[in-house]
Amino acid sequence: MNEKILIVEDEFIVANDLKMILKKGNYNVMGIASSATQARTMIAAKRPDWVLLDIILKGNETGIDLARELAAVKIPFLFISANTNQSILEAVKKTGPYGFMVKPFREKDLLVMLDIARYRHKIENQQELKTGEIEQAAPDFGEIIGQSPNLKEVLHKVSLVAPTDTSVLITGESGTGKERIAHALHKNSDRKNKPLVVVNCAALPLSLVESELFGHEKGAFTGANSLRTGKFEQANGGTVFLDEIGELPLDAQVKLLRVLQEKEIERIGGNHTFKVDVRIIAATNRNLEKEVAEGRFRLDLYYRLNVFPIELPPLKNRKDDILLLANHFLLKFNKANGKGITGFSDKAQQQLLQYSWPGNIRELEHLIERSWLLATGHEIDSIELPADSESLGETAPGELSSLEDMERKHIMQALQASGGKVFGSGGAAEMLKIPATTLYSKMKKLGIQQEHY
Ligand SMILES: Nc1ncnc2c1ncn2[C@@H]1O[C@H](COP(=O)(O)OP(=O)(O)OP(=O)(O)O)[C@@H](O)[C@H]1O
Ligand SMILES: [Mg+2]
Repeated sequence: MNEKILIVEDEFIVANDLKMILKKGNYNVMGIASSATQARTMIAAKRPDWVLLDIILKGNETGIDLARELAAVKIPFLFISANTNQSILEAVKKTGPYGFMVKPFREKDLLVMLDIARYRHKIENQQELKTGEIEQAAPDFGEIIGQSPNLKEVLHKVSLVAPTDTSVLITGESGTGKERIAHALHKNSDRKNKPLVVVNCAALPLSLVESELFGHEKGAFTGANSLRTGKFEQANGGTVFLDEIGELPLDAQVKLLRVLQEKEIERIGGNHTFKVDVRIIAATNRNLEKEVAEGRFRLDLYYRLNVFPIELPPLKNRKDDILLLANHFLLKFNKANGKGITGFSDKAQQQLLQYSWPGNIRELEHLIERSWLLATGHEIDSIELPADSESLGETAPGELSSLEDMERKHIMQALQASGGKVFGSGGAAEMLKIPATTLYSKMKKLGIQQEHY
């Protein structure tokens, strides 16, 4: 029990007695005041959790005067007094105390009274919190569409963690809405009026990781022609969203870890460190535990980030959301382009529900856009679905694969050959002779995920 109790009692011996009993009962006695004035000063310096009040005090104010003020600022209190005069008791009742004990009392009397009072106070607080929750604006989930139990569970987690400063790690396949969730977390936090700075770790060229994140002084290195503030500095007071954190090179992971631990940064070429106040949200479509096991991700950084994990389910496990999302995108395109397509035919709906959605919501959005453009009637008759990734490579003889399918197949072969490595020497990007960032965006576009290769 760490509750702080203030004793307001003018008789030194009684006050001291109370203090001993409370200490024995494991309470923290924050002080003894012998007058209302003295009590006010102490309360102003440190808010007590409970106040024990005598009625007659030094000075011309009584404990009842003080009680009215305590009630106004919602500090709970109990009276301890020898004075049981009827008119005084009436005045006492009106202040709403949590109890009244008549002096002299036994040690046990006091501790039991306090215990019951604390219990009642706790219950009242919980009820107040609950009604407060109802009155409070519901969390703002922007345009996060979906009704499936899986998504509801995610949104419940978001509403719990959003108002705190806890680091959140969002995992899930590509296109499941990780970035959306990151925005929702920021928007529902006290930091919402401060910046949300997005860092795409996959798109950071290795040589610039540090200067991007932490900034550099003018002249820090060749080409550093002016001072540059890093993402952490830009986000001060707000949130840094480290997207695709699984792609961050090991060197940069060490530096990031230091910032997360020390909460201070140093610009490259600078000679001092300074504090930054940022909340960290990270996202990845990689299995970070596997990355750790295979030595590509630091365990200590993983623990730092994985304080509150939120896993986004793939679209195929949110079947209830498919048509909702499809309609949402349809309306969005209608609104933007003034073409009034009213819905999907039964056939199109069946197609949408049966497809496995390897590229998740992003793929759905693109497909609806394409179907919307192609539609000539008042509804979308059918959807031109790509070959399901499960049946990839099973082109019937004489049938030509689309360029997209060929590209997907080719990239997957390279990834299989590189053992899943995208970047660096021996990585798929090197084999395909394209920059890793280009490969990465192609993989995203084609819905290629780790479990596919
Ligand atoms: N619940 C949702 N309701 C409406 N649109 C959504 C929802 N979830 C995601 N989207 C849309 O789907 C697309 C993909 O979402 P997002 O970019 O957040 O995915 P991601 O998980 O970050 O993907 P990646 O791992 O590829 O970066 C975006 O256009 C986003 O606006
Ligand atoms: Mg993303």
